[in-house]
Amino acid sequence: MLLELRDVVTRYGAVEALHGISLDVAEGEIVSLLGANGAGKSTTLKTISRILAPIAGEVRFDGASLDGLEPEDVVARGIAHVPEGRKIFPGLSVLDNLRLGATPRRANRATIERDVDEVLAIFPKLRSLGAKMGWTLSGGEQQMLAIARGLMAKPRLLLLDEPSLGLAPLVVKDVMETIVRIARDGTTVLLVEQNAHLALQIASRAYVLETGRVALSGDARQLLASEEMRRAYLGSAVRVEAGR
Ligand SMILES: Nc1ncnc2c1ncn2[C@@H]1O[C@H](COP(=O)(O)OP(=O)(O)OP(=O)(O)O)[C@@H](O)[C@H]1O
Ligand SMILES: [Mg+2]
Repeated sequence: MLLELRDVVTRYGAVEALHGISLDVAEGEIVSLLGANGAGKSTTLKTISRILAPIAGEVRFDGASLDGLEPEDVVARGIAHVPEGRKIFPGLSVLDNLRLGATPRRANRATIERDVDEVLAIFPKLRSLGAKMGWTLSGGEQQMLAIARGLMAKPRLLLLDEPSLGLAPLVVKDVMETIVRIARDGTTVLLVEQNAHLALQIASRAYVLETGRVALSGDARQLLASEEMRRAYLGSAVRVEAGR
């Protein structure tokens, strides 16, 4: 397994947010982490990238424990985390945002420029925006830039936190297709999504979190077809409409 979580418990002060999460991600997979608001999806990603340190359990990457590492050590090991809400630098150009993504690697200038070019090949729309400032980009462009910047760390595992949030359906489709392409190019992806339908279409497997625990997990196709999944998660959009 590329990534293994075993009985991971994470707290915010006195509040326990993860009550013992176990999950696996194999090399080359797209695995999705689903669940409602507050279920613990972002906390799980933050625990993997060690923005938060778990109080119990273990996170292993490529066979080695991440115990005691700083977030920048985790990036150096090959895990890039694209957080919720994009967090690009608004006062920097697209190209400078990308260059900053390579900082943890301490690569030389020529290598960074070559990698910028390589990453832009995956994001054709970003290439034409190179000199534009971050704040002038549309929501979809900012999301693409955030993912592209994550790739500049040359990760083996990319953690994506709700990349579709707030984007128009056509843009969401574009983002999802890009994620599939990234995985095909050899980067493993752990994708957090509230839109279960969308995520299950591109993931091979998924874990559904409920209040800090894994409530359901399995093959994406089986989850899409499962009655339990449909009742609890896939039908939610319909319920919202009906309630209006
Ligand atoms: N900084 C924080 N301090 C205290 N509690 C927090 C903090 N961040 C999150 N929590 C709590 O931890 C739990 C899990 O939150 P988390 O952000 O991981 O959920 P999520 O599944 O990512 O939700 P969303 O879909 O809204 O992003 C929630 O009960 C939340 O209130
Ligand atoms: Mg979240």
